[in-house]
Amino acid sequence: MPTSFNVPATVITGAGASLELGALVQRLGARRVLLVTDAFLEASGLAARFVDDLERLGIAVYVFAGVQPDPTVLNVQAGLAVLRKSMAEVIVAFGGGSPIDAAKAISLLATNPEPLSQYAGYHKIPRAGVPLIAIPTTAGTGSEVTKVAVISDTERDVKMMLLDAHLAPTAALIDYELSMSMPPALTAHVGVDTLTHGIEAYVSRKANAMTDPIALSCIRLVAANLEKAWREPHNRVARENMALAACQGGMAFANSSVCLVHGMSRPLGAVFHLPHGLSNAVLLPTVTRYSLPGAPERYATIARAMGYATSEAGDEVAGKGLVRELEKLNARLGVRRLREIGGIEQHRYEAMLGKMAEDALASGSPQNNPVVPTASDIVELYRWAW
Ligand SMILES: NC(=O)c1ccc[n+]([C@@H]2O[C@H](COP(=O)([O-])OP(=O)(O)OC[C@H]3O[C@@H](n4cnc5c(N)ncnc54)[C@H](O)[C@@H]3O)[C@@H](O)[C@H]2O)c1
Ligand SMILES: [Fe+2]
Repeated sequence: MPTSFNVPATVITGAGASLELGALVQRLGARRVLLVTDAFLEASGLAARFVDDLERLGIAVYVFAGVQPDPTVLNVQAGLAVLRKSMAEVIVAFGGGSPIDAAKAISLLATNPEPLSQYAGYHKIPRAGVPLIAIPTTAGTGSEVTKVAVISDTERDVKMMLLDAHLAPTAALIDYELSMSMPPALTAHVGVDTLTHGIEAYVSRKANAMTDPIALSCIRLVAANLEKAWREPHNRVARENMALAACQGGMAFANSSVCLVHGMSRPLGAVFHLPHGLSNAVLLPTVTRYSLPGAPERYATIARAMGYATSEAGDEVAGKGLVRELEKLNARLGVRRLREIGGIEQHRYEAMLGKMAEDALASGSPQNNPVVPTASDIVELYRWAW
């Protein structure tokens, strides 16, 4: 079956990549720009550097810093109002996955009618949005290169997933120096998100010849660099490699798919307000154990790529080793089990399992998993992860 591969037309990587912003905006011929970011990055003064650079080139800059972590429909509507007022011709997204996803949704609603919910799912966006340049500060979601946006509908407690080629940014400026200020917990959470993208892209039923090598490269880079970046925040090599891993993970999963970990992680994050990377991390070992029989060779290849199994080890041994090592990796990175995280009461967790399982299945992601679960399988997996 033919498969398509969508990524931004321009991806600039390396220290100082973000300094290319002015030249890029000029190439796009824009005189007015909307910068979408969050309150922390605005207050840190980092966003102001881009505003100064652009204004020096005679480009008018409007800032919308109202994106919260796990952006909501309301954040998107507020940003859209600023876009309309500013008449900006290009959007610059500066931040982690949250500002980048919010900017994608703002861009799409500039040219397609509301409500946003009608575009949830796959390939439902009729018209291209406003050109978007993404500058990531986490490493990360890979959103800077994906045709995916995740926006929370707080009225229904659902994280909507939108996938469409029209959501791919026009350009990504991946400057690992911007990620060096991430504290250890954030580094761990977003790093396990990256690893989950690589693993799920590789084991997915939609994995293909274009995504396989990129997914494996992402997995290798995470295995060799995540703990180093977590222990030594100023290690430039580790930070650069994690930024590359995040970008590769994004390219791989958006053109293959994510599977059951993300399918279950979105409802968990929506209901209990856990950071996206953390909700993936707590599910990854459990879901991997469940999924092994559906793709034993692929999981074994991952175990060998991560250095968790020798080339002589058989697939079954390697697969079991992968689950064990993923559990140990969580422990080393300080990722605790759900029941130990605090703030989640067991009776409320139990009460939400049915809704979360239904929302997981409705997203379409579990159907790409090597073992396709029923709703009651998912409920059981949530219990195992507790
Ligand atoms: N579109 C995609 O392809 C895709 C893929 C995976 C996840 N996501 C979505 O991305 C969102 C999560 O994004 P995220 O994990 O990058 O985090 P985030 O953007 O929500 O940021 C988390 C926190 O970290 C802070 N932060 C960002 N960069 C920092 C830095 N360099 N130093 C210190 N603090 C920094 C932010 O201000 C914020 O408070 C979720 O909504 C998730 O569903 C999207
Ligand atoms: Fe993710």
